Amino acid sequence: MSVLVRRPALGLLVGVPILLVILGTLDALRESGVVGLPVVPWQTLWGLPLDRWIRDVAASLTVGFLILGGLLLGRPIPKLLGAASLSALVWLASVLAMVPLTISELLGRPLSDSFDPAIISSLLLTDLGKVLVAQIGLVALVAALGWAVVGRITGVIVLALAAAAAMLPALTGHSGLGGGHTSASISLALHLAAVGVWVGGLVAVCRYLLTNPPDANVAIRRFSVLALGAVLVLAESGLLNASLRMDGFASLITSPYGALILAKGTVLGALIVLGWRQRKRAVPLLVSGQATGRSIVLRLAAFEILLMGVALGLSVALSRTAPPAGAIAGDRITAAALGLLALGVPLVIVWAGGRPARLQRWTSAYPEPFAVALLVTAVVLADVVPTGFLGVGFAAILASAVLVLVGWLFAMAAIGPRGVPAVIIVMVLWPAALWWAQRSEPTETVWQLLLAVVVAEVCLVLLLVVRRSLLAKAAPPDVVPAASVEVSA
Ligand code: HEM
Repeated sequence: MSVLVRRPALGLLVGVPILLVILGTLDALRESGVVGLPVVPWQTLWGLPLDRWIRDVAASLTVGFLILGGLLLGRPIPKLLGAASLSALVWLASVLAMVPLTISELLGRPLSDSFDPAIISSLLLTDLGKVLVAQIGLVALVAALGWAVVGRITGVIVLALAAAAAMLPALTGHSGLGGGHTSASISLALHLAAVGVWVGGLVAVCRYLLTNPPDANVAIRRFSVLALGAVLVLAESGLLNASLRMDGFASLITSPYGALILAKGTVLGALIVLGWRQRKRAVPLLVSGQATGRSIVLRLAAFEILLMGVALGLSVALSRTAPPAGAIAGDRITAAALGLLALGVPLVIVWAGGRPARLQRWTSAYPEPFAVALLVTAVVLADVVPTGFLGVGFAAILASAVLVLVGWLFAMAAIGPRGVPAVIIVMVLWPAALWWAQRSEPTETVWQLLLAVVVAEVCLVLLLVVRRSLLAKAAPPDVVPAASVEVSA
């Protein structure tokens, strides 16, 4: 963890394996074997999402470094502006690489054929090509001008150019091409700008705090206000965009696209909890000049950036996954949605403090029956949507609500002093529950089920971590280990 505190941006790398594993399980990295159709080569299938991830990360870092280095502190910070120019160069390289990769994907031709000037110039005449050209021009300007920021005005100009370039991809992809085109494009553009402010801004603040500056409290206070606005815009625009991509609530729990949205929502929930703790507990320590303030802020921020890395990996996987058609009776709840609703969402609720004392006392007295109830509910509800009980949409909402409710009761039972055996029961039997639910007509591949099992097991391990930290906090002060106090702060 200390590496991530010293080099916070490294936490974003966690998105790469997540992205590749998800695309691998969705079979999006393997060349199609359909005879007669153009074959997109594997180099392109791997290269495009990786390039997109580099573009998104570099764009966020550029915007974040420019905000802190050129605007937020009221005077230019050359080190941060230099970092902005360097990340803009990486961003520029990723957009340039997108030209041959896009040609190879659109025409289904080897990458080596995609460098043909005639083909490139015909791509650049299309709408997609024009967006790429505009982005290349803007990012090149940002890379060149980052070094030239001498005051607030120049800072605002370069930041505006970077923000415009970061928002441009919203004119292409699912949002640019699908129905509800204008709302989808505007909401995704706002989403991307908010990602830049929040993710890039936090990395830049950490980098600045590491230099132990005299105005650390000014930086953190101003960024806190900005981050709050960015989270609100991010959540609102993400939900609006998702609702435009999906035909009804049932698609959320019956499609891989919906499962990715659920996963992003869960991660965002966890990020909001961390951000709130940062704002309410850690930042006041730093602002009041306490010696431990800076290290606690940096430690929490390292966790936040790690989670942001998970969200970015999920996001690029989302942009490479086909939005679903409307769900129909007979569609099943995906194994990933089952795990996220029954384990992921309740974990975040309990961690955030959603555990009424009386209910917690009652559930934690009998943890094992709650574990069994959760497993039975998961198996039974995996079959509710196919019957189309009271309509697919209503069945999906009811099934999701019951899963979250039973999962929440289980999570409260599990964080009590006798909770470990109950968690172990679910850990051992969750794969069997998924297999049982799928046994008659499997709709997911073994790899998809395996990934869903891993997600569920990770949630259960995190539940044990939360339990340990809550029990340590509840213990009398003389038996509280010092390390637990710091982590739970
Ligand atoms: C409630 C939570 C969220 C929802 C519902 C949501 C929804 C969406 C949707 C629908 C898209 C468009 C995907 C497509 O093209 O089909 C998107 C893209 C994106 N989201 Fe989110 N999002 C959420 C949270 C986040 C968070 C926390 C982050 C990062 C910290 C993030 C970063 C991104 C990025 C970078 C893209 C663009 C991906 C690309 O095209 O390469 N989102 N999001």
